[in-house]
Amino acid sequence: MRLTTGKAADKKDLLVVFTHETEKGKIIIHSDSQIWEPILSPLVKSGEFSGKENTSVPFYGVNGFQKIIFAGLPKNQPPYDGEMVRRLAAKLVPQFEKSKVVNLDLLLLSDIAEAAGTDPEIFLKSFVEGLLLKSYRFNKYKKPEKEKSKLEEVRILTNYSKADALVRDTAVICEGTAFARDLINEPSNVLNAVTLSEKAREAGRRHHFKVTVFDKKKIESLKMGGLLAVNAGSANPPRLITLEHRPKGAKKTILLVGKGVTFDTGGISIKPAAGMGEMKSDMSGAAAVLATVTTASRLRIPVNVIGVIPTTDNKTGSAAQNPGDVIRMMNGLTVEVDNTDAEGRLILGDALHYGISKFKPDVTIDLATLTGACVIALGQWAAGLMTNDKKLAGPLVAAGEKSFERVWPMPLFDEYAEQIKSVIADLKNVGGRPAGSLTAGKFLERFVDGKPWIHLDIAGTAFLELPVHYLPREGVGFGVRLLTEYLQAL
Ligand code: BES
Ligand code: ZN
Ligand code: ZN
Repeated sequence: MRLTTGKAADKKDLLVVFTHETEKGKIIIHSDSQIWEPILSPLVKSGEFSGKENTSVPFYGVNGFQKIIFAGLPKNQPPYDGEMVRRLAAKLVPQFEKSKVVNLDLLLLSDIAEAAGTDPEIFLKSFVEGLLLKSYRFNKYKKPEKEKSKLEEVRILTNYSKADALVRDTAVICEGTAFARDLINEPSNVLNAVTLSEKAREAGRRHHFKVTVFDKKKIESLKMGGLLAVNAGSANPPRLITLEHRPKGAKKTILLVGKGVTFDTGGISIKPAAGMGEMKSDMSGAAAVLATVTTASRLRIPVNVIGVIPTTDNKTGSAAQNPGDVIRMMNGLTVEVDNTDAEGRLILGDALHYGISKFKPDVTIDLATLTGACVIALGQWAAGLMTNDKKLAGPLVAAGEKSFERVWPMPLFDEYAEQIKSVIADLKNVGGRPAGSLTAGKFLERFVDGKPWIHLDIAGTAFLELPVHYLPREGVGFGVRLLTEYLQAL
């Protein structure tokens, strides 16, 4: 779906009139004009429309509009925050799709934001996000449905003066989320380390940022023992992808590192069969990083944004690493691989060391579907945030609240490091069941050389079994809106 803007006086196909139920059960109509009152009252009286949250009714051919949808706002008293507006807009999408129109003019009256008590910029941005994020489909492997007409364009008619640029930028960000979703949803027989690196190259060509891809030989020459060990059981070679958005005059450099395991069988410490297919999403961190650098480049965000993606699948081939093996990482530390299913930290350890020593960033943020323990701790509504510098958390938490891709601080107390001590090597890659997300964080910390760093465990937020609001089932694209918001605020 394409989104464009126009002025409120232009052609109007569709008007959405918001209604609102008050504490006393009275229905308030939010509209610039009083003419809807006589249209709506009989519908309310006859019981065809209650005006309450989650209710809506279509109405045809009045006052130059082809169609009017009356839609109930949540009962809560204003002000509505951005997330309420996103969910509200998302609820309209199935209505639009049912109406079978291909091009649609949607009039957003100026007093809607006012009635919602929302800043007009936040209102419009969130409304657009709700529409676009909810319209996402991944149906490239399905036979096209003959009957279904597709909503191609929605033109938002509004008098808000900054609407054009705001809608355009918001659409770019939502396309970033859709790009990440597409990558995650792609099955592992299509998306492996090599094809992922090709997609990165393609994005770089198209959106003008530099992409460098290291092959297995180069990875060997750099002695990335973690990435090579995880890749050992695979028929596909590994890759290390670097993305560079470097606008002129930029002062700050942010390094983003994304876990790119294109399928995680667990390796020799193999996972149980049930639900293993979800592990095609074990490259969600990589997807978020690639899509964020793409978005930063398209929006010309005035900060250097570097992405580093270590990528491979984690398989059980005859050359696979065994539990108990000792490997040497790029930074020289030796690791006893107690469990081959804790592979993310092995490839990230090398990527963090490489990225930090090469690019000397001001801040490093890694995103990884790292631990099942994080799913247990936080579920699908927040990613775990761990950092070696408490001051760094605030701006990312704030960006999380704005984007509703929320992150929640978890501790990296030194005592947790006891659990990853090894008898025969510098450290081991698992720390037992207690605090599984934190021992993973403590492991990564050994590869950042004391430099400012944030780890985001997105295991619970990256992939959903069921759709909710504007989030689809399967790949969520979590992190793109969060990081873009963070970068824009720097
Ligand atoms: N990719 C998984 C983590 C995961 C689990 C992501 C569920 C999304 C949903 C990771 O590589 C893994 O297997 N971690 C192990 C670590 C353990 C062996 C210490 C886990 O969490 O069980
Ligand atoms: Zn694993
Ligand atoms: Zn994994």
